[in-house]
Amino acid sequence: MPLPCAAAGACLSPRSVGLNVAADYRFVQLDEVQTPALLLNVDALERNLARMAKLARGGGKALRPHNKTHKSPVIAKKQMALGAVGICTAKVGEAEIMVANGVADVLITSEPVPRNMDRFVALAAKAKIAATVDDAEIARELGRRAGARGIEIAILVDVNVGQERTGVDAGPDVLRLVELVFKTKGLRFAGLQGYEGHLQSRMPETERRALACAAYDRLGETKVLIEDAGIAVPTITTAGTGTARFALEHAAVNEIQPGSYCVMDSSYGAVEPSFENALFILTSVLSLNRRDALVVDAGWKAASTDSGVPKVRDHPEATYKEAGDEHGKIAGLAGTHRAGDVVWLVPSHCDTTINLYDKYILVRDDGTVEGELAIATRGKSA
Ligand SMILES: Cc1ncc(COP(=O)(O)O)c(C=O)c1O
Repeated sequence: MPLPCAAAGACLSPRSVGLNVAADYRFVQLDEVQTPALLLNVDALERNLARMAKLARGGGKALRPHNKTHKSPVIAKKQMALGAVGICTAKVGEAEIMVANGVADVLITSEPVPRNMDRFVALAAKAKIAATVDDAEIARELGRRAGARGIEIAILVDVNVGQERTGVDAGPDVLRLVELVFKTKGLRFAGLQGYEGHLQSRMPETERRALACAAYDRLGETKVLIEDAGIAVPTITTAGTGTARFALEHAAVNEIQPGSYCVMDSSYGAVEPSFENALFILTSVLSLNRRDALVVDAGWKAASTDSGVPKVRDHPEATYKEAGDEHGKIAGLAGTHRAGDVVWLVPSHCDTTINLYDKYILVRDDGTVEGELAIATRGKSA
């Protein structure tokens, strides 16, 4: 029996979060959950949220969790209730849904372009919105459109600290763009974003820490250049799950923006084991007719593989292999399962796996099904 789909945010862990379960929600057993399904252990989620909130508080820095991972305004509001100053979204489409669901402070971490700029401006008229820019022409155009509507949009100048993705190279080029932002009507210079994405999974940890601190040093030096030119730099925002602890110790940084820590995945599990895996793919065994493997109902459409294949929970001896859009094969479990039994997989990459599903099935530590939660910004990549 399918679970009735609750509205966005109807029931995240109702007992502890204090939200109401949708009136028509019927509690079901795990063996009624339709597969493949994305399970979210809300106990583990809440421990992760509380842990990061405590770390940020202890480090005396603002926490602005990146919501490109969980994609739920309910979880966003839970993060804010725990002390986050606001959230990040990757895209304006995600921000629109967050704002519509009552999240009032959003940094959109991907640069606007002329074709979506009016949406940034419209959103900034409704909520506290910050945009990142790394291009003078885009900054001028955004300022022109915001100014024409009589509003000011907060701007974080995006700084390349080694990821070689977006961002002006740290140093004097940043100052030139900051000066332009500073004097452009419709824009308010709010600080620097310098995401060191290339370091998030760097091992060993000593190397990750040293390289991350070098990146923060460059942000700090760039801040001094800007301040020497007479412009205050209120915010320096950076860091992900793999580097948050180091950013919290660095004097140049005053805001962190980790995302994956809320649910984790098998890739990050090796890097930052103090956060728990809260996300699983529940898959059913469809066929026992292949000698080498169980055939299950989770293929490419159920588990992203950009960071490798999922792991099999509780069975380190087993290996999952993709077998097409709708199928996977699990080797190493011969004789242990019957057709119709389920296997729990641990996604290799939480963000891209979550984006494949419409909803989470919420479970407790003991496997009790607690409800379901819409993945409200799923697919909002534009
Ligand atoms: C701009 C930005 N900030 C922060 C993050 C941190 O996310 P995570 O903790 O998932 O690595 C990301 C991840 O892609 C990002 O793109």
